[in-house]
Amino acid sequence: MNREGGLEGADDKRAALPNVVQSAKAVRGRSCEARKLVVAKRVFLSQYCNSRKSDAQQWRRTPVCWPTVSRAGQLDLQVVVGSVAASIAGISGPVLAAWESCKLFFRSDPLKIVRAEAQYMYDEQGRAYLDCINNVSHVGHCQPDVVAAASRQLSVLNTNNRFLHDNLVLCAQRLTDLMPEPLSVCFFVNSGSEANDLALRLARAHTGHQDVITLDHAYHGHLSSLIEISPYKFNMIPGHQQADWVHVAPCPDVYRGKFRDCDHPGEDMGALYAEEVRALCDKASARPGGGVACYIAESLQSCGGQVIPPDNYLREVFRHVRAAGGVCIADEVQVGFGRVGSHYWAFQLQGEDVVPDIVTMGKPMGNGYPVAAVITTRAVADSFRDTGVEYFNTYGGNPVSCAVANAVMQVIEDQGLRGHAKEVGDHLLERCRALQQRHALIGDVRGVGLFVGIELVTDRAARTPATAEAQHVLSRMKDESILLSSDGPDRNVLKLKPPMVFSMQNVDTFVDVLDEVLAELEDLDGDLAEPVNGHHVKTNGTNGTNGVNGHRGKATA
Ligand SMILES: Cc1ncc(COP(=O)(O)O)c(C=O)c1O
Repeated sequence: MNREGGLEGADDKRAALPNVVQSAKAVRGRSCEARKLVVAKRVFLSQYCNSRKSDAQQWRRTPVCWPTVSRAGQLDLQVVVGSVAASIAGISGPVLAAWESCKLFFRSDPLKIVRAEAQYMYDEQGRAYLDCINNVSHVGHCQPDVVAAASRQLSVLNTNNRFLHDNLVLCAQRLTDLMPEPLSVCFFVNSGSEANDLALRLARAHTGHQDVITLDHAYHGHLSSLIEISPYKFNMIPGHQQADWVHVAPCPDVYRGKFRDCDHPGEDMGALYAEEVRALCDKASARPGGGVACYIAESLQSCGGQVIPPDNYLREVFRHVRAAGGVCIADEVQVGFGRVGSHYWAFQLQGEDVVPDIVTMGKPMGNGYPVAAVITTRAVADSFRDTGVEYFNTYGGNPVSCAVANAVMQVIEDQGLRGHAKEVGDHLLERCRALQQRHALIGDVRGVGLFVGIELVTDRAARTPATAEAQHVLSRMKDESILLSSDGPDRNVLKLKPPMVFSMQNVDTFVDVLDEVLAELEDLDGDLAEPVNGHHVKTNGTNGTNGVNGHRGKATA
């Protein structure tokens, strides 16, 4: 550690970020009119280029009149923007078609990143960006020990998992040692999706049931089996028929969900939300041929908008699900491996007695290299074995994957990254909460360790999502060389899940720049309701209430 509490070498990179400072100065120096125009353009582009759930509906509803282009024109613009970026990258034809369906960050002006180190990414012009979003590069981009372990093993042996190999055994041993009893059996796969798909198979084999209880806004992977249980995705499919074995429980979001803390003071919010799961267990059991195979949820829901479930939630849910004959799956694909700081796995935040039957993991496990796993109990694994269907996965648990995963876990331990995540995460939360006192646009700050969400609202009392403002903030932060993303059903939650080497100084840089960007938006309070370039610009939140036009003064408390 260095003086500021960051990791050696990490804070020094600030010197390599002169563009962060220059860019902030350049923007501050612009005339008010020029800034209004920039904001109006961004609101326009972000409204339409980033619209995901219902582009068509939103465009029909939203009276955006600047620049004046037809719907066809707007669509053309999207293709043009994409094509220009693609042609710069030398991409064309069928490759472009595939590229256009990818989910890029900053789609209207995508970044071409050519290298990265620790918590910094560099574009092709050498511009450095502070990475606040990359939970895959968990121990830092291109972490030297991980790179060395991969290349060393690659030069000795890489093969399928039909042979004994020490790396596999060591990796399984390490992972299961990190789990509470009775989680003791490890399956290796290649991605979070494969892990969750296998978890469903294990649950069904063990319980003999089919039904799955999932959470609203959840995402569990891209395989067909997982799209069916991922409302985050299937809600976007026109005419999608939710399968009768899929049951969607409300996301336990006490700020914006079905039960809000403000409406239930002093109540056990965990039990309240868990009661919804119990009702779905009854529904599944009553379905002809039905019965609960499993409840699956991220231990902290990331796609739902960085949601921290209330105390007692998982304990109660697990009790209900098990009483109905089901098993409980904790998806730790995003939030595992010490990100939450105080514990190695996020489900552990709910208490030592809260132990899932199956845990899935991926992303951070390989620091960018594809390796993932499922950990379960001996009883569940035995039920699966007894089906007679052997589990074979060509690449799952290959010697290189396991060398990488072992190196990642070693780095977490050697560098004390879990403790670091707690320390830096606490500082981040404290500073964001101080910012909340000064900017009414910040409705909620929540998080644990280096998993933090900042929810933007146009009206604190009504908790009206500030969707357009959030998209604008992302774009402005990018101008300032800070990479951030948003999530949640209204895409108004700024989400941070940076590489775990994120430093105290990175926190300060992030918060200072966010402070500036929010102040800019406040300076423009009401201005966008006035004609800009002769056109009236008005943006709506997804619930139809005013976005940029909504009242947004400085917070008084
Ligand atoms: C919570 C969660 N589970 C599973 C997955 C699927 O992981 P992968 O993309 O590695 O297949 C993701 C991916 O974003 C995820 O966020």
